[in-house]
Amino acid sequence: MSDRYFQSRYRAHKYWGRRPWYAVRALIERHSAPGEVVLDSFCGSGTTLVEALATGRRAVGVDLNPMAEFITRVTVTPADTRALERAFTRLRDRVEGDIHALYAQDPDTITPRHWYPTDVLPVSRFGVMLKDAGMTVADLFSPRNLAATALLWDAIQCLECGPTTRDLLRFSFTAALAQFTKMIRTKKDGTGWWVNAYRIPRSYRENNVWHSFENKLRVVVRMKEETNALLGPVSIATPDAPDPDASCTLRLGSATDLSFLPDESVDYIFIDPPWAIKYFDLSVLWCAWMGFSLEFDREIFPWQEEFRQDMERSLRECARVLRPGRTLTLNFATRYTGVLNEWRDAVEATGLDWIGIEPLQQDQLSFVQRQHETALKGNYLLHLRKHATGQAVAPVETPPPVTAEEMERMVRALLEERGPLTYDDIFQALYPALARRHLACDLYSVLLYGFGYHNGDSEEGLWSLEEGNADPRLSHTAPPRLRRSHDTAEPCLPFD
Ligand SMILES: C[S@@+](CC[C@H](N)C(=O)[O-])C[C@H]1O[C@@H](n2cnc3c(N)ncnc32)[C@H](O)[C@@H]1O
Repeated sequence: MSDRYFQSRYRAHKYWGRRPWYAVRALIERHSAPGEVVLDSFCGSGTTLVEALATGRRAVGVDLNPMAEFITRVTVTPADTRALERAFTRLRDRVEGDIHALYAQDPDTITPRHWYPTDVLPVSRFGVMLKDAGMTVADLFSPRNLAATALLWDAIQCLECGPTTRDLLRFSFTAALAQFTKMIRTKKDGTGWWVNAYRIPRSYRENNVWHSFENKLRVVVRMKEETNALLGPVSIATPDAPDPDASCTLRLGSATDLSFLPDESVDYIFIDPPWAIKYFDLSVLWCAWMGFSLEFDREIFPWQEEFRQDMERSLRECARVLRPGRTLTLNFATRYTGVLNEWRDAVEATGLDWIGIEPLQQDQLSFVQRQHETALKGNYLLHLRKHATGQAVAPVETPPPVTAEEMERMVRALLEERGPLTYDDIFQALYPALARRHLACDLYSVLLYGFGYHNGDSEEGLWSLEEGNADPRLSHTAPPRLRRSHDTAEPCLPFD
């Protein structure tokens, strides 16, 4: 594993779909200069903002998930780590003994004495399974750990400290929260919340809440020492505290409305919209304790009807605020050409020029990419540029789509030359040709119906010429194939 993966600022709090910071930094350095404005309107845990600030740019971030806004804000806000240590000592004096005492008691006699959330967990691919419908956030905890967690949360809320310190304590709490639940396996490799769903394994570990919190707080202190040194005196503008000279602007809101930004005011945009993960479902655990409400019906998600329209509105807003002659980079990761086509149509509607596609630099695979044979192993970057004349929306000449026959010929020639390949290998080999046609193709359907799919002994699914290609049936509307996840034996779709 690469050392550069283990930066404290990205280890402190989990967020799904975080992109490698060194790749994001390289893009920022390539497409903008110090002092310029960099925007990410799907900013998630704030990788783009942190790297923009670290390289002397001004950063603007938007996300509709309050947890994303919170993680980003706490990460970039300068903080006094000694004040945090002092607050932690007071907190320890107040609750450590009481929490440890719970672990000496008969667990059957324990009932929580403080508030805890009872929000119902969503039933979805990334929530809980249908058979567990009605399960609440509290059900994820053993009675003892629920009592300990509620006690700790109450003490954090009541502690005498400044707002920045309290936010760091809350940040440490939510960062450690999954460790307090029954979702942690007893297996050696199961120390984290890796499966992107709320699943209680048959055999789970009951971590001591105080120890898990204390360990996390140590990581958060290191994160703050790192970001204080790296980012310097960041000033943050919010709707409540507008500041035209701030180095960072952060908004909790939808990427479809960037009206707080004037036309042509941004020098570089990097966005990474959702591809396969429902971020809001996975944030319910954190948001329930934080008291944040999630606007589920405004979340952008590829398998929803409004996806094309929402992406188009978001991209049009990006095109509006981008300065003429400057670049917008879109991270994309999907094998479903139906989704890709909708997304591509939304891109075309902006009138921005297609500059090129390249793979996102990634030193190592994520847990999901390693565990799920059908998971895409890589992300791709589409670079678009606004006309130097400043036309935000110009009529574009869209190249004709790649027909199924053309697509099949390309894949066949490739497989004949190189033998069985993964989807990523095929996409990587063909994307220069596909990009020239603005990705208007149905690669996945051609593979699904035209070629055999091999699971074999290989960790990755391999596509080959060996079977299933006698009678290719091509379809743009084919539903994705359901496969079984290793972890849960529950049918699930591939993840990004
Ligand atoms: C792939 S993640 C971004 C991860 C980010 N690049 C990082 O490194 O942490 C996509 C983000 O889009 C956000 N999102 C979903 N719908 C949105 C909307 N309508 N407006 C803004 N953000 C939205 C999700 O909350 C999620 O944080």
